[in-house]
Amino acid sequence: MLEASWVFAFNVNELAESEKKAVIIDGEKIVLIKKSGELFAISNRCMHMGCPLSKGELEGYVIKCPCHDWRFDIRSGEFLDAKELKVASYETRIADGKIYINMEH
Ligand code: FES
Repeated sequence: MLEASWVFAFNVNELAESEKKAVIIDGEKIVLIKKSGELFAISNRCMHMGCPLSKGELEGYVIKCPCHDWRFDIRSGEFLDAKELKVASYETRIADGKIYINMEH
């Protein structure tokens, strides 16, 4: 049994490799990304002006904001041009074919 902070997001089979899915959990906009078989979850609001990162291009572990090309590492949420700046990142876990996100971050 997962602790209360772990919230169901999607079924595993709903997310294909390199696919991005936007989800809103507890009022927070999150993008879930499957990359090389691993799952990553970061804020879906770009820290520049709030555009949805889920609409951006994914290249390796880097997602590029569709609005003004700011780039973020999906593993940490780091802004590549100034790594001390980050969008929120969340732990993910799979249990019984379901993807859960830890909302405590
Ligand atoms: S809103 Fe993302 S780069 Fe401007």
